[in-house]
Amino acid sequence: MPQNLSPQIIKKADDLRKALHRHNYRYYVLDDPEISDAEYDRMMQALKQLEEDHPQLASPDSPTARVGASPLQKFESVAHTIPMLSLDNGFNDEDILEFDRRVRRNLDTRDEILYTAEPKMDGVAVELIYENGKLVTASTRGDGLTGEVITTNVKTIQTVPLVMQTDGLTAPLPPGLEIRGEVFIGLEAFKKFNQERIDQELPPFANPRNAAAGSLRQLDSKITAARPLEIFFYGVGIIEDFEFESHGELLESLTKWGFRINPLIRSAVTIEAVLSYYRELNEKRHQLAYDIDGVVVKVDRIALQQRLGATSRSPRWAIAYKFKAIQETTTLEAIEVQMGRTGVLTPVAHLKPVNVGGVTVSRATLHNEDEIQKKDVRIGDQVLVQRAGDVIPEIVKVIASKRDGSETRFKMPKQCPVCDSAVVRIAGEAATRCINSSCCAQVKERIKHFTSKAAFDIDGLGTKLIDQLVDKKLLSSFADIFKLDENALSELERM
Ligand code: IVH
Repeated sequence: MPQNLSPQIIKKADDLRKALHRHNYRYYVLDDPEISDAEYDRMMQALKQLEEDHPQLASPDSPTARVGASPLQKFESVAHTIPMLSLDNGFNDEDILEFDRRVRRNLDTRDEILYTAEPKMDGVAVELIYENGKLVTASTRGDGLTGEVITTNVKTIQTVPLVMQTDGLTAPLPPGLEIRGEVFIGLEAFKKFNQERIDQELPPFANPRNAAAGSLRQLDSKITAARPLEIFFYGVGIIEDFEFESHGELLESLTKWGFRINPLIRSAVTIEAVLSYYRELNEKRHQLAYDIDGVVVKVDRIALQQRLGATSRSPRWAIAYKFKAIQETTTLEAIEVQMGRTGVLTPVAHLKPVNVGGVTVSRATLHNEDEIQKKDVRIGDQVLVQRAGDVIPEIVKVIASKRDGSETRFKMPKQCPVCDSAVVRIAGEAATRCINSSCCAQVKERIKHFTSKAAFDIDGLGTKLIDQLVDKKLLSSFADIFKLDENALSELERM
């Protein structure tokens, strides 16, 4: 018990912590907040102040303790008590019906088996250990047997409860709980985050999964805290003093204890219903706020899961029904060099238009010269293009076997394609840059950024108008925007 602290102060801090944990749960897990964000912030501020005034109050599971630990030197390893297995994959309805027949054969029954069908999150698997309701360890899946300890990083994720909920429970919490889930980044947040990286001239991440994995691998949890990570939980390892009849019931209890479960999960359904769920989700996947790459099908009854057991690689009671990859092949017709507002030249692939999962794709990013070299992309090549969520399509690889010798290599221009100034490649950077800061392409991009929604949000000053104004030398800096008058504008097209 801390010294020099009045029982009132201890109680006040305790009450604030309990309330904040509960509001966090209502907001992130139930999606049903009871108080305004401002009120939440005020409570958080009050608790921070109390802990600052009385450092003895500090506690690792205080809602204020999500960030703050000093950077690690390296990640420690930890063995999972129960291995974190992979899943077998199925690619068509027949594979799933065969899985169902295999389950019944293994159980030696003709009875109908009920399943839980869950979105297969395309993120990073983690295991969290709670002791007496408190988060003590979080680790990566690693090789399935041993993972890396990433507790401080996982604690920065707002949707991870630092303490389990006890409100309205009829039974005590399990003394020990190993819970598993998938850490991911939503598509909106990913787009925004990647744009910020581009603006800061940092290399963007190829997809949300890589961004999530990279964010969890930071030795400094302050960096992780600034990344928009989320989590959905989907299963357990060891759970002490508890037995559940079904996976569906387990998920219900996990929700009551404060863990965020995907609301699209469907429990206790027949194998036919699983197949229609897959079709529904396949249709809907592009409207979801996050990437999924299939449906996980799990035998619902826990007793049956136990009877079925697992191979060294994967459980016999579950299978992943994967979505068709949204990849197509097409011809790379040309590579154009585009200029960004900081003068960086980005090669962009012009493709023969191709339908990739319902969307016509005619351009793909090639990032930079190194990327083109690494993939050995040549003009005229047959290429495999991929679209992931809302991200700009990219070239996965070249189909070299389709070459007929007419393909040509791409060279980054030595001069800016717009203003003819020299371009340079800065040592240690992949980027090639036009050195002329008054290059009109740069000026245009800078002004477009300045007037965009994310910045000054100037209505009516769109891309086409800016292009014209810069070309006519009516705009060369931000300040010029405010000097534009009727005279100047009336000379332009459609004005
Ligand atoms: S259950 C023993 N449920 O898929 C089975 N996994 O290929 C454990 N995953 O490493 C997995 N969403 O990262 C399960 N709803 C879900 C999932 C899911 C994504 C990932 C998980 C696992 C991988 C297995």
